[in-house]
Amino acid sequence: MRCGTTIPHNQRGEPRTAHTHRQRAEDAARQRRPRHRHGRHPRLGLARPHGSRGEHRGALRHPARPRRHGGDALGGRHRRAAQGQGCDPVSPQGKVIIVTGAAGNLGRVIGDALQAQGAIVVAWDRDAQALETLQREQPARTCLACDLTDEAQVAHALAETVKVHGRVDGLVNNAGLIHNTLLFNMMGGDQRRHSLADWHRVVDANLTSTFVATSHVVEHMAMTRTKGVIVNISSIAAGGNAGQSAYAAAKAGVESLTVTWARELGAMGIRVVAIAPGFVDTESTRRALSEAVIADLTRRTPLRRLVAPKSIAQAVLFALQDDDLSGVVLPLDGGLRI
Ligand SMILES: NC(=O)c1ccc[n+]([C@@H]2O[C@H](COP(=O)([O-])OP(=O)(O)OC[C@H]3O[C@@H](n4cnc5c(N)ncnc54)[C@H](O)[C@@H]3O)[C@@H](O)[C@H]2O)c1
Repeated sequence: MRCGTTIPHNQRGEPRTAHTHRQRAEDAARQRRPRHRHGRHPRLGLARPHGSRGEHRGALRHPARPRRHGGDALGGRHRRAAQGQGCDPVSPQGKVIIVTGAAGNLGRVIGDALQAQGAIVVAWDRDAQALETLQREQPARTCLACDLTDEAQVAHALAETVKVHGRVDGLVNNAGLIHNTLLFNMMGGDQRRHSLADWHRVVDANLTSTFVATSHVVEHMAMTRTKGVIVNISSIAAGGNAGQSAYAAAKAGVESLTVTWARELGAMGIRVVAIAPGFVDTESTRRALSEAVIADLTRRTPLRRLVAPKSIAQAVLFALQDDDLSGVVLPLDGGLRI
């Protein structure tokens, strides 16, 4: 023994060394382990790989972290197999999904793709005339006219949705308005500056609409303990794009909300994902950009084409189905940004 050092002894008079501490921890862990031989699951007879549920129960779960509740909605119970494989994809079959801006170019394609996979699609849009046309073409779709920047209209549309279908499993925040204006345009005459009216119009259509719809839908999901999914349609303009002050800022806001909400709502089992398309081959793109600009964009895109609307719909399906995806932005731009 070194001078001045005292080694504590246990009740049996043995020195309490690091070894005996470790021994006791191992003994305690052995007692906690389920009593089935050779690491086999008692009912399934499957070998449990190291680190699978049960073997280290308690050690891996943070005591303050709430358990995920049950249920089988889109973000449903993690049915991880006893073998430690990833969770099953969650089928959209029979799930009630609200798509905003559903009467527009991408909204229609997203609605069609969801419906083809068996989802019940509820179309929200402020364009009542376009919704009427959609309803005629797609009688199975529940079409509800509402301006997403008006809380009373959103509350009413949500109440109607729940009245007709009984639940909401997903929300695709697709409504938006693409707008091009320079902050300052020397050639603009009386209208040289980006107007505040345009700023409000564009931020409202893209960002405020997403906030209002999500706050109402999430309240409903939380109160009904539904593990739903929110998919936000952003844009690669979120990274900054000359001539799109309001649009770029609004989409950056949408991406920020995606991360914020993923952090806030994850404990309730609600996932939040954003998809950031590049230039999609839609009427709205062709309306916003000249032929020359589109040709230049195509030349600069590694895949040498605009993004197909169906790609966005596929990404929405992926976001709805992958039960581990949350807080991310999926860029879909044919490689334009690299
Ligand atoms: N088309 C593209 O190239 C492209 C690229 C990147 C991102 N996006 C995004 O994809 C989404 C859909 O774009 P799109 O090309 O189909 O546009 P679109 O103009 O064809 O459709 C947008 C729809 O949103 C609706 N809407 C707008 N404001 C609303 C509000 N306050 N309340 C309710 N409905 C409202 C409109 O009525 C319209 O039907 C938008 O968010 C857009 O920013 C599109």
